[in-house]
Amino acid sequence: MTNQTKTWQKPSLLAHKTGLMNKVGAVAQHHFISEVDGHPVEDLMKAYGSPLFVLSEQGIRDNVRQLRRAFETRFPRVIYAWSYKTNYLNAVCSTMHQEGAWAEVVSAFEYEKARALGVPADRILFNGPHKKRSILERVVEEGGRIHIDHLDELYLLEDVAAKAEKKISVTIRINFDTGYTQAWSRFGFNLESGQAMDAARRIGQSAFLELRGIHSHIGTFILDPRAYAAQARIMCGFMEAVEEQTGCKIESVDLGGGFASKNTLHGTYLPPEQVVPSIDQYAEAICDVMMECKNNREARGLPFPTLILESGRAMVDDAGTLLSSVVGTKRLPDGKRSIVIDAGVNILFTAFWYNHAVHLTSAVEGIPEETVVYGPLCMNIDVVRASMMLPPMSVGDVLHISPVGAYNNTQWMQFIEYRPAVVMTHPDGSVSVIREAEDLACVVAQEKLPAHLAEF
Ligand SMILES: Cc1ncc(COP(=O)(O)O)c(C=O)c1O
Repeated sequence: MTNQTKTWQKPSLLAHKTGLMNKVGAVAQHHFISEVDGHPVEDLMKAYGSPLFVLSEQGIRDNVRQLRRAFETRFPRVIYAWSYKTNYLNAVCSTMHQEGAWAEVVSAFEYEKARALGVPADRILFNGPHKKRSILERVVEEGGRIHIDHLDELYLLEDVAAKAEKKISVTIRINFDTGYTQAWSRFGFNLESGQAMDAARRIGQSAFLELRGIHSHIGTFILDPRAYAAQARIMCGFMEAVEEQTGCKIESVDLGGGFASKNTLHGTYLPPEQVVPSIDQYAEAICDVMMECKNNREARGLPFPTLILESGRAMVDDAGTLLSSVVGTKRLPDGKRSIVIDAGVNILFTAFWYNHAVHLTSAVEGIPEETVVYGPLCMNIDVVRASMMLPPMSVGDVLHISPVGAYNNTQWMQFIEYRPAVVMTHPDGSVSVIREAEDLACVVAQEKLPAHLAEF
C-alpha cells in the first residue's frame, strides 16, 4: 500500500465528540481482511455475487477435532452429536458426520434430513417438544433415540411402542437450576419439583419403555464453565437417585450444548478472546465431575455412563463469514454517517444478539467516524450494526462480517430480497456452492394461484 498515491478527499467539517477520536487521534483504517480462507474477497464476489456466505470446511473440522480431543482425552466414553438447528446445510452436516459426529435433531424435518443424508437412526438423538405420532412411528421402527420432553409425549410414545410390539430405550430431558445461569424450565421435566423423578418412575413401570438416558441443555452462550460442572454434578446425582428408586440402568448423560462461540453479545465490552472460555476450560470443568462420578461408580462395581455433548454454535460460528457490499451512503439528520449494505437482518439473524466483527476488505482512506450499518430491507429494524467506527465508505466496497456460521443459515428468512448463495471453501483450495442463491422460481415454487385470480 505504501507506494500508492493517496486519493484526493473532499474536505469535510466534523463536530468533535468528547471521548471519540478526532482527526488528530484517528486510527488509520489500514486493518483489513482481503481474503477468506485464502480466497481473495474480490474473486469470491465476482464468482458468486454479493452478499455471500462463506463457510470453511477446514474450520468446521478443526473445531470438532478440538472438541473431541478436549473431551476424549479427559473422559473415556464420549459421543458428540451435531445440533442440526445450528446449521443444517447438507455440506455442513456431512462434514460433521465425517468427523464422527452423531446427529441431534428437534423436528420431523431435521430427522428426515439426517436420515436422507445417510445417518443411521441409532446415531440420531431426537430432542424437542413436538413429535407427532407419524414421526414417532418411523423413529421407533428405525431404532432412533428419543428424548422425551413431557408427559403427553411419554404416553404417546408408549402407545406407539405398544402398537409396534417393541420395548424401546428412551432418554428423558430434565431441567433444573445450576445456580449459574437463568434456569431454562420450559423443556423437559423439572427436577426440583419432583416431575423428573415422577417421569422416571412412570417409565420404570412401563412394559414398552426403558429409561436408559438423561439429558439437559442448560442454555446457550454460557460463559462460565462452572455452570457445566454444576450441571454434570446434578445430572450424576439424579442418575444415582433414579437408578436407586426405579431400578433402571442409565447408560448416557447428555449435557446438551451451550458453549459460547467467539462472538460478542450486545452489551459486552471486552472482546470474545477475553471473555469466551476455551473448549478445554469447558472440558476440564465437565470431565472433572464426570471422572469423579465414574470412579465412584466403579468402586461400587457399577458401569459408568457415556458423556454426550451437543455443542452447536461453538463448532461452526467462526467457520462462517458474510461478505456484503456497500450499496449507498448517507448522512443522517443528526450528523451521523450511515451506510446501506446488501445483507440485512433477515439473512444475518444473529445481528439481533451479536455485535459481529465487521472488517474492511481493502484499505480505505479517510477519518473513521461513528457509522450506522443498515441492511437493504425497507424496514426500520434492519440495522446490522447500530454503531461502529468506519472510514468513509463508497458504493462497491465490501465488508467482511464474522463469525456468522451458527444459526444464520437456519433462522434466516426470505423476506423482501432473495437469499444469497452459500459457498464452502475446501482444504484442497477449491470452493463449492453448497446452497444456490434464490431466484423467483424457487421462491414462488410452493405457491398456487386459484384459476379465477389468474387474470386481471
Ligand atoms: C437440545 C439442544 N442441544 C443442543 C443445542 C445447541 O446449542 P448451542 O448452539 O448453544 O451449543 C440446542 C440449542 O438450542 C438445544 O436445544
